[in-house]
Amino acid sequence: MSRCAAQKGALSANRCAWWRDGALATAARAGSDARPMARIMSGVQPTGNLHIGNYLGALVNWVRLQAEYDAFFSIVDLHALTQRPDPEALRRAVREVAIGVLASGVDPERATVFVQSHVPQHTELAWVLTCLTPLGDLNRMTQFKDKSQHQPDNVNTGLFTYPVLQTADIVLYRADRVPVGEDQEQHLELARETVRRFNHVYGETFPEPQVVKSNAPRVMGLDGESKMSKSRNNEIGLFETADETMQKLRGAKTDPARLRKTDKGTPEVCNIFSYHGFFTSESQRAEIAAGCRSAQLGCVDCKKMLCQNLEQVKGPIRERAAELRSKPAELDAILAHGASRARAEAEKTMEMVRSRVGLGVRA
Ligand code: TRP
Repeated sequence: MSRCAAQKGALSANRCAWWRDGALATAARAGSDARPMARIMSGVQPTGNLHIGNYLGALVNWVRLQAEYDAFFSIVDLHALTQRPDPEALRRAVREVAIGVLASGVDPERATVFVQSHVPQHTELAWVLTCLTPLGDLNRMTQFKDKSQHQPDNVNTGLFTYPVLQTADIVLYRADRVPVGEDQEQHLELARETVRRFNHVYGETFPEPQVVKSNAPRVMGLDGESKMSKSRNNEIGLFETADETMQKLRGAKTDPARLRKTDKGTPEVCNIFSYHGFFTSESQRAEIAAGCRSAQLGCVDCKKMLCQNLEQVKGPIRERAAELRSKPAELDAILAHGASRARAEAEKTMEMVRSRVGLGVRA
């Protein structure tokens, strides 16, 4: 309401804060009439299998946030096209990532879980926003530079306009907040800039999305050299069995100064100890640190403990994933339900956008 009161001039009052209608409806659905639930939107790319970096960096937060917010979570297959994946591999990855999201505890009754390409409004809005975005703004994006270096023989335009599509993802649902890792902050800054530009040119339409920072912004890969990522082949897969994980952990670097078991170690510089930070209780961590420093505990035993603790998290997820994988029709139904809810919200936004920018016959 205060936004409306503050807004005088070109726009009539009944055009203000129109996006709150959706939030109010959601609050009603959630059985609360006090305060409309704020919206969050986030996306995950279907590239390869999910790993514990995705789990800690995104999924844990999604599960937590779905209770506090009206959440929209998307598997962004259109973004994945910028890497020109094999078509069958992409189709498979979309399903596997959806399974991972659900198996991790995202509840499709609570949150709207959908595949980006099932909601054609994403590309429609992306085009409108593309026409508002100066070339120079996209030229500054560090991820574009990184990705161009990573795939020098496929520097396509989609890679360049990737952040515009990401902005469309967010504002299509008039999201107030966006949970992302620190590597996405520049994209979010661009999204806010685009919102301000749209609102300035066409009148107050979208809220400015704020970042919700993740608790575990950076999970290192098993090589201990760079962020955990499928493309660097340094990941602990979310669906891996304990044996598969132990196999990988055996070869993983620890404190480089600790060559023999009898050498005293420094937990603070050990990559394996950094994982204990995510999966191990404080008391066991203290035990491990003391054992490492005094050379009482060897690296292999330390890795076995980690593997066990990881399994406490991965085991139930792997089981739920296997169950979902065995019922493809159920997964289809969940994604169809999410897409229809998302499309309804997206179409409300697009009707407003089309009217404001001068598309269609009526204002
Ligand atoms: N670019 C994000 C990433 O690579 C994925 C993404 C696409 C996204 N659309 C989004 C994240 C909208 C948040 C909101 O992690």
